[in-house]
Amino acid sequence: MEMRIIVAGVPGVGKTTIMEEVAKRANYRIVNYGTVMFNIAQSEGLVRHRDEMRKLPIEIQRRIQKEAAKKIGDMENIIVDTHLTIKTPAGYLPGLPVWVLDNIRPNLIVIIEAKPEEIKGRRERDETRKRDYESEREIKEHLEANRYAAFACSIYSGANVLILENNEGMVEKAVEKFMEALK
Ligand code: AP5
Repeated sequence: MEMRIIVAGVPGVGKTTIMEEVAKRANYRIVNYGTVMFNIAQSEGLVRHRDEMRKLPIEIQRRIQKEAAKKIGDMENIIVDTHLTIKTPAGYLPGLPVWVLDNIRPNLIVIIEAKPEEIKGRRERDETRKRDYESEREIKEHLEANRYAAFACSIYSGANVLILENNEGMVEKAVEKFMEALK
């Protein structure tokens, strides 16, 4: 069976770190949804940095999201590094509305999680990004929103949901569990 996997988690939880390790061991094409969207937005002169995308007018974010879904939908044997919800100034934007799910057709949705205090610390130490400040309470709310969204996507698409802990200093353990799920 062809596997089409979605990996999601709040910003700074460590999805990309885990996917970099998975890429060395798994025979999958790993696609970063944000990069596909960023390439479209940048080519239109809308943003200079990927962290500006979630501040664009919502209708523009939705249009670019749809274009990215079509491009990614044509790819095979993929792991898509993306978001269940994107925190915008106008509320949570769903990362996997029906037009994205219908294109990607996932059979597994993996949510990467960590404790709110761990996520807060990782964001503060990561100097490569322009991350918005969030309190531990706000991060907890975002983690919960992602779980609700994951199960809504699961019911719609039939994909399983796997919740994977990426605890402090335990990247290798999370990668091993991810590889186990691919079997
Ligand atoms: P995206 O590129 O996915 O940005 P992001 O959410 O900020 O995710 P990152 O990849 O930067 O963070 P991460 O969680 O992977 O953490 P990292 O591995 O870097 O998305 C960009 C934008 O695209 C979004 O904002 C949105 O606008 C748009 N977008 C994407 N998908 C969309 C969709 N479907 N619809 C609409 N818009 C969409 O790790 C962070 C730090 O933690 C690092 O310093 C790392 O070394 C450290 N770390 C990681 N794991 C551990 C550990 N176990 N212990 C200690 N430190 C750790």
